[in-house]
Amino acid sequence: MDRTLAGDLARLPELLQAARDVAAREVAGLAGRPVAASGPAPGRAPLPAEGVGGEGALACFAERWAPGFSGSAGPRYLGFVTGGATPASLAGDWLTSAFDQNLSGAGGSRAEELERETVAWLRELFGLGPEHSGAFVTGATMSNTVGLAIGREWAGERLGVDVSRQGAAALGPLDVLSGSPHSSVAKAMSVLGLGRDRLRRVSLLPGGREAVDVAALEAALAERAGRPVIVVANAGTVNTVDFDDLRAIAALRERYDFWLHVDGAFGAFAALSPRYAALVDGLDAADSVCVDLHKWLNVPYDAAVQFTRRRDLQVAVFHNASPYLGLPAGEPEFLHLTPENSRRLRALPAWFSLVAYGRTGHREIVERNVALARRLGAGIEALPGLSLLAPVRLNVVCFTLAEDPSEERVARLARAVAASGEAFVTPTVYDGVPGLRAAFSNWRTSEADTDRVLRVLAASL
Ligand SMILES: Cc1ncc(COP(=O)(O)O)c(C=O)c1O
Repeated sequence: MDRTLAGDLARLPELLQAARDVAAREVAGLAGRPVAASGPAPGRAPLPAEGVGGEGALACFAERWAPGFSGSAGPRYLGFVTGGATPASLAGDWLTSAFDQNLSGAGGSRAEELERETVAWLRELFGLGPEHSGAFVTGATMSNTVGLAIGREWAGERLGVDVSRQGAAALGPLDVLSGSPHSSVAKAMSVLGLGRDRLRRVSLLPGGREAVDVAALEAALAERAGRPVIVVANAGTVNTVDFDDLRAIAALRERYDFWLHVDGAFGAFAALSPRYAALVDGLDAADSVCVDLHKWLNVPYDAAVQFTRRRDLQVAVFHNASPYLGLPAGEPEFLHLTPENSRRLRALPAWFSLVAYGRTGHREIVERNVALARRLGAGIEALPGLSLLAPVRLNVVCFTLAEDPSEERVARLARAVAASGEAFVTPTVYDGVPGLRAAFSNWRTSEADTDRVLRVLAASL
């Protein structure tokens, strides 16, 4: 064994303790450190010929790279939809690496059963029934991709084409209908050979809504009657967290044949609170469902879950048959369900957080975040220089400059907020107007944080 490597083996507890100390300092200080990185990145170092050992690497990381990392896991990073990592999920994530299980299948481990247990808990948390099976993937983009891949296979089944064998071309054009799809849906369509251009936007409800007009969706389905279609319904749009009427969309299946995929990347968390659960009424009727976990469950990147009612078609798409891997029989192993073959035990951080805080603890995070979004929204309304672009429906505040909200002036405001080190919001365009989004999804954000964000916004005008 290399001498430095052997030295690290001998001093493994000390190395892990040193890493723990760095991590504990970082996490404890998150609320106080700059929210966004500033200044130039360090220059690239040459590939080390001789290693410096684990503690040397830790010192090098702490000096060269850590100071330039963002405080995105902290309470005032409101860009995109960014969750942090609950204490228990962080511990679970460390142990994922320490145990280093390969979740392609059982492989002599019980870890596979832990993933199944976690998926079953999540299914219950989001109000899905036992017909939905699920698996962990890296994020909502991958969850949407898997859902659409199963939908593509379903379309093949309807047309008598085995897409997994004959390819997407054998299917002919397959339209995907959606009101306000997340950009990852188009990306998934590109990956799956469906083509980005087959994403057909359906009209939205009037009054600046981002929810689909179900009558317009019905008309689009009627136009395509006789051809299978995929409908992507949205449960939580990124700008205004609007929700399609899932129950009404699902009811259209009595008259039209389509695969219903629901992108509930973060909106599905409405199900955790009796106050907001009606927003996702009908979710269980979906053929496939996407939920991100590194957003509102507050587990570390990268984790999402995908659910489907048609595991048989999922296996048709993703099975990875080889004499050494085994053939899917009975309960399929995970390598037959997702794009990856080897997989980390991505479920463990979620398992830890669910055991540690339960349904009640996670519901509290959701409800507090919504209350804080409304608090910021009210504060913005009261500021003369800013105005809301849409009502605060759930956990995102979409706003802009009260006067002359040009792209350049709005971007300047976002840069000034980031430069303060106090908060981070991200630009968007809503209904043709450049604006900013402040998304609340971090487990530790408080009223005091929210008021600090408001003060920074006011000072940056
Ligand atoms: C509604 C929705 N779908 C999909 C995604 C993609 O998520 P990820 O970055 O985890 O792939 C996002 C990310 O913000 C989202 O908000």
